[in-house]
Amino acid sequence: METMANTLVVEKAKTSKIHEVDFDNLSFGSTYTDHMLVCDYVNGEWKAPKIVPYQPISLDPSAKIFHYGQSIFEGMKAYKDRDGGVWLFRPLENFKRLNKSAKRLAIPELPEAYFMEGLTTLLQLERDWVPQNPGSSLYVRPFMFASGTGFHASPADEYKFIIACAPSGAYFSGKVKVLIEETYSRAANGGVGYAKAGGNYAGQFYPTQLAVEKGYQQVIWTDDNNHEFIEEAGAMNVFVRINDTLITAPTNDRILDGVTRKSILDIAKSEGIATEVRKISVKEVVEAAKNGSLKELFGAGTAAVVSPIAAFGYQGVDYDLPELENSYASLLKQRITDIQYNRAEDKFGWRYKVI
Ligand SMILES: Cc1ncc(COP(=O)(O)O)c(C=O)c1O
Repeated sequence: METMANTLVVEKAKTSKIHEVDFDNLSFGSTYTDHMLVCDYVNGEWKAPKIVPYQPISLDPSAKIFHYGQSIFEGMKAYKDRDGGVWLFRPLENFKRLNKSAKRLAIPELPEAYFMEGLTTLLQLERDWVPQNPGSSLYVRPFMFASGTGFHASPADEYKFIIACAPSGAYFSGKVKVLIEETYSRAANGGVGYAKAGGNYAGQFYPTQLAVEKGYQQVIWTDDNNHEFIEEAGAMNVFVRINDTLITAPTNDRILDGVTRKSILDIAKSEGIATEVRKISVKEVVEAAKNGSLKELFGAGTAAVVSPIAAFGYQGVDYDLPELENSYASLLKQRITDIQYNRAEDKFGWRYKVI
């Protein structure tokens, strides 16, 4: 791997905001640390990243991010163990996915060293910001967007890559009731659904608002063709347990290749749980709910890890999921978080030491 060889400039903040933060009452992603990493793409290359005090950025009104949405992001977490050690979980997967998203949005790909060394140095500097309370973590948001200017609809010639961090508390979703979507689509064949493109999320907001008005918290996205197969749950991958088999949809160009999803599949297999990666029809889920074989439905993603679904609505009827004592959702969440927080052996080699 090409390294940055002392090219990473660090400009430290004069004062820290850390004493203003109530670490016992953190919400998700709304308090930011003292520093951020910034890297500029100009004159056909990514310049060496810099770590600077967290601050607003100034952009020209004609910057293409505002007009053509050339914008992608990643979401990951840094975890603190009992001894104060700080860890990341499979960060290279996020790096590879960032570049996969970049390619699809015609954004120049970032060198691996800029991402990995930049991220590690930033987190080492911000180590006191990684909370230690149970379930809490430092949410890490790498993102990239077109800062280059011009009203013509073509890729920009300048970009910015930034990593910002937000200490976040444990995520409790409560009882989630979801609506299986029959009208709107999150992604289409040949589109950008597999990329973490900002616009994918903007497109989800309106259908989700409509679902919220009807009393649901989230939408289960179905295929754009006939709304026949379930694909994702909000901004999470989706798992279905029918009898004792755990099923998830195969990734394709409409579905994000989630790090949590693939980790859960590997953990489930190692726990002896039968898994299937195949298309799941809405009809199958509804029939399983009616005949009692539908045991669990849950979302999987970095933010919530595992988010159990208590009920789903489809064609005007609500179906409740049973409350299980020994759910796969809680077992898998326990196993994955034990690895993330360095509480258990990591036989998969997923943990990455920051400091
Ligand atoms: C649309 C979508 N699906 C799935 C996921 C889950 O991916 P990961 O497990 O890598 O966080 C995310 C991001 O969290 C997402 O935005």
